[in-house]
Amino acid sequence: TKPNIDQTAMLVKTYACQRRTPLKHHNSFLTEALEILSQNAEYNDNEGRSVAFRRAASVLKALPHRVKNMEDLRSLPCLGDHSQRVIKEILEDGSSREVESTRQSDQFQAMKALTGIFGVGVRTADRWFREGLRSPDDLVRTGQQLNRAQQAGVQYYDDLQKPVTKAEADVISDIVEKAVRAVLPGAEIRLMGGFRRGKDVGHDVDFLITHPEEGKEEGLMPKITNWLEEQGLLLYEKTTRNSYLEKMDGPARAPNNMDRFERCFSIFKLQTGSETERAVRVDLVVSPYSQFAFATLGWTGSKLFERELRRWAGQEKHMSLSSHALYDSKQNLYLRAKTEEEIFAFLDLEFIPPSERNA
Ligand code: CTP
Ligand code: MN
Ligand code: MN
Ligand code: MN
Repeated sequence: TKPNIDQTAMLVKTYACQRRTPLKHHNSFLTEALEILSQNAEYNDNEGRSVAFRRAASVLKALPHRVKNMEDLRSLPCLGDHSQRVIKEILEDGSSREVESTRQSDQFQAMKALTGIFGVGVRTADRWFREGLRSPDDLVRTGQQLNRAQQAGVQYYDDLQKPVTKAEADVISDIVEKAVRAVLPGAEIRLMGGFRRGKDVGHDVDFLITHPEEGKEEGLMPKITNWLEEQGLLLYEKTTRNSYLEKMDGPARAPNNMDRFERCFSIFKLQTGSETERAVRVDLVVSPYSQFAFATLGWTGSKLFERELRRWAGQEKHMSLSSHALYDSKQNLYLRAKTEEEIFAFLDLEFIPPSERNA
């Protein structure tokens, strides 16, 4: 027999990594509103509040039906008073005043425009906002000091605002594969991030690169970027060396969502027609083969899914998960894994495929 709505709600688990969250769901009219409030909290440097709204939205994404009334929400986890008030207002009036006034506010719009510039974080955007600046044009007009990333961000702003399509991501994949094959035969390349989760558009294209012979991947990134540079395909790149040391980054270190792989934040020049081209953000990451499963799990996302995996590991399993390793604090040892499936098993979680990690 089919469970009724209340039984369905009781089956919704607390951690996003315990649930299946498809890309297309039934409650965008609510999740989009809650995500505005989440984003606004982030702009105001209130991480706790931002995550609370994001978790609430994520629970609604996992429901197999459209929410019709407040009764449908009984016994659902992660729905705080504030989120419930917002949902109630939308169900009754069609929209929430708080959400609409946030969306229209000068601060929200300016922060969205300014943090939308590649290389600009919340703190910098907030400083500019308080100085009266509202847009990339304002930065240029007033001659703001910009670092190299931000200069590229302003220069390619319009292109980088346009969503990257799957077709464009496939063209970039071919280019990256060609580059990697040219400089290190036998290397493996995997498309990560939103596209691995089945999205048909993204804000960038993410790749993870490794080689089955551990050590061969060392220092690979400069070779890749040099090859791309020579072909005239790079508009911007910043490479960071691998700085991971198990002894220092393992259990002794506070769990951090920033990994330490050799990586490159870049902007590609993509040919879109015989005489047209556009700028596309591309992230490249190189992982040693022994960490590849962890890197794969860590770079598939979504960001909330990753965050919940780490929280589950720490709070429920006394383990510490990163994109490099899984450490068991009770047994005082690293748990080695070759596949994502093995990592879920170590964590006592049902395996969730990438297409259902859209939390
Ligand atoms: N990531 C990370 N460290 C960063 C940036 C990103 O580990 N400094 C991880 C995120 O946790 C995420 C993945 O890389 O799992 C992809 O991040 P991102 O490209 O920002 O998001 P997507 O999910 O790919 O969404 P989009 O389509 O907007 O790019
Ligand atoms: Mn469904
Ligand atoms: Mn991405
Ligand atoms: Mn990315």
